[in-house]
Amino acid sequence: IVVEKQGFKHFMLKEIYEQPGVVRVCLEAYTNSTWEAGQTTPPVNLDLDPSLYQDLQHIQILACGTSWHAALVGKYLLEQLAGIPTMVQYASEFRYAPAPLMANTLVIGVTQSGETADTLAALAMEQERRANLEPQFSPRLLGITNRPESSLGNLVDNIIDIHAGIEIGVAATKTFVAQVMAFYALALELAYRRHTLPESRIEEILVGLRQLPGQIELVLESQERYIEELAHEFGETQDFIFLGRGINFPIALEGALKLKEISYIHAEGYPAGEMKHGPIALLDAKVPVVAIAMAGSVYDKVLSNAQEAKARDARLIGVTPMDEKEAEETFDDLLPVPVVEELLSPILAVIPLQLLAYHIAARRGLDVDQPRNLAKSVTVE
Ligand code: G6P
Repeated sequence: IVVEKQGFKHFMLKEIYEQPGVVRVCLEAYTNSTWEAGQTTPPVNLDLDPSLYQDLQHIQILACGTSWHAALVGKYLLEQLAGIPTMVQYASEFRYAPAPLMANTLVIGVTQSGETADTLAALAMEQERRANLEPQFSPRLLGITNRPESSLGNLVDNIIDIHAGIEIGVAATKTFVAQVMAFYALALELAYRRHTLPESRIEEILVGLRQLPGQIELVLESQERYIEELAHEFGETQDFIFLGRGINFPIALEGALKLKEISYIHAEGYPAGEMKHGPIALLDAKVPVVAIAMAGSVYDKVLSNAQEAKARDARLIGVTPMDEKEAEETFDDLLPVPVVEELLSPILAVIPLQLLAYHIAARRGLDVDQPRNLAKSVTVE
């Protein structure tokens, strides 16, 4: 298959723009578009072996890089929607210090390429550790990948295909969003089967998910020019801090990772409430702070964390809900996204951060699609 840039300057930008379509394809693949509360057919269908779900008590997710960030969003969804305690570990760490075996555990490997050596080895190890034990410990493996025909596909019987299409840019964008979509589907499927949410609530979340493609388009249309301009102002910047909380803490990590991967600017993602325990010492007028302040349970907290940064002269950039007066007063620069419920906000919050990283790197004339020292898939330990 030959993949072309189709008029975009880089594959990464093209892939950022493909995200509304990717979300649509995921929704079509995973959900029943005519489902309403009370119907007997299920709202979500992932075609997984029902034995994966039986008496499920724990979920263990293994991943690397951006996939690990998607897994952190997944943990939030699986715990808050389906009520299943979920651990997320770097596969490279888990391999040499695995958690004690827990019964009735679903082990999920998340890897866009399906070829990351550490993720494959951690899953193989888990399969081996669990072989020949009492039935409640037997391995239940699930892969979330963009390449069902990969080595992961050979190792694991149950796969959720994320349907993102080939991603060329080394810095993952559309595959991250698609992995998060897979976790919405899995969490809703489990919530439905386990009756942890009323069906009306499941319907409400599905309605919200279906609005995301149009909302991503709106962010792309309304923000890109502004972010391109804004990127000019960070020609000399050497450090960035990204803050987020709750379901958007992983988005702060992802925003920081995108920026360091392609622009070579040092960037740290931090839970906003932890800033005062360390990173605040770094702040001055030369260190911009990007805060993700989405409407919901931690909105006021993130705003007050951002104000603490402002008191140290940091330039404050806010990813905020549209038309929020208080946010307008707090931040020096606003990257507004449509107002959605907190649970759905990560998919919108990540878009301006991808664009910011892209334009800062492109502005510096860097090889955005092939950053130095990085590989699209890391097939060695
Ligand atoms: C490499 C890539 C990252 C990616 C990570 C995990 O480091 O540069 O973009 O997130 O591998 O890749 P995977 O294919 O397992 O998702």
